[in-house]
Amino acid sequence: MSAAPESDIPRARRVGPQGVRVRVARARAQAEKSVARLVAGELVARPSLVLGLPTGGTPAGVYRELVRLHREEHLSFGGASTFNVDEYLGLRADHPASFRAEMERALFDHVDVRAERVHFPDVDGGVETAHESAARYESAIAAAGGIDLLLLGVGRNGHVGFNEPGSPRDSRTRLVELHADTRRDAVRAFGGLARVPTHAITMGIATLCDARRIVVLAFGAAKRDVVQRMLLDPIDAATPVTFVRAHSNVEVWLDEEAAAGLSEPP
Ligand code: PGA
Repeated sequence: MSAAPESDIPRARRVGPQGVRVRVARARAQAEKSVARLVAGELVARPSLVLGLPTGGTPAGVYRELVRLHREEHLSFGGASTFNVDEYLGLRADHPASFRAEMERALFDHVDVRAERVHFPDVDGGVETAHESAARYESAIAAAGGIDLLLLGVGRNGHVGFNEPGSPRDSRTRLVELHADTRRDAVRAFGGLARVPTHAITMGIATLCDARRIVVLAFGAAKRDVVQRMLLDPIDAATPVTFVRAHSNVEVWLDEEAAAGLSEPP
């Protein structure tokens, strides 16, 4: 596998009171390629890498590029484990709008990851079994040695995973009720608001922040406001994604549209 040309990697600048490293790519595709290279580099250095992965529109291009690297440059996921950040409650695993189905279409069906090393919270049992399922997910992450590299998107209301506004810093994997905005954002995938699940199981803020390395992605003008809040607002449950600023190894990757509300570097 070839390394990314240095010139393609946007320079990191420090933003906000914690001096979070932020990289602004000229175009989204450039960020997607660079982040895929970053993941690939970690996989090559540590084939048994434990990945934490999000769904949604944001990471789609990174997954496409990882598939390309697997096909064309022999990048292997054969030793890796994956833990997805969240899943809707009560959907069958093969429901086309489940996050498992989305991940299979985007990545897992096209690379050599082993089925038994792909993990999602178990949501089949609905509310009755959600608490045990959440506890089992925490144990499974611990048993795998913890998450080495966590990719994250961010919701327009500041959520991360399904940690909606109000989610505490010390939250762990748990049953959550989805915010009305979040359910509205999912209408298209389910073909109507009434069909969008009301609950989900999500890794908690503390679960996310236990990862050894975190890469947050945000692209497009629709994320401009939340990017500002993520980096500049007080670290607080009102905007759960602000909690990642306290992490010692976090980097934020943006395109110019998402970064447009941040002041220019000096
Ligand atoms: P998106 O969702 O990637 O589809 O914008 C992000 C999120 O809501 O966490």
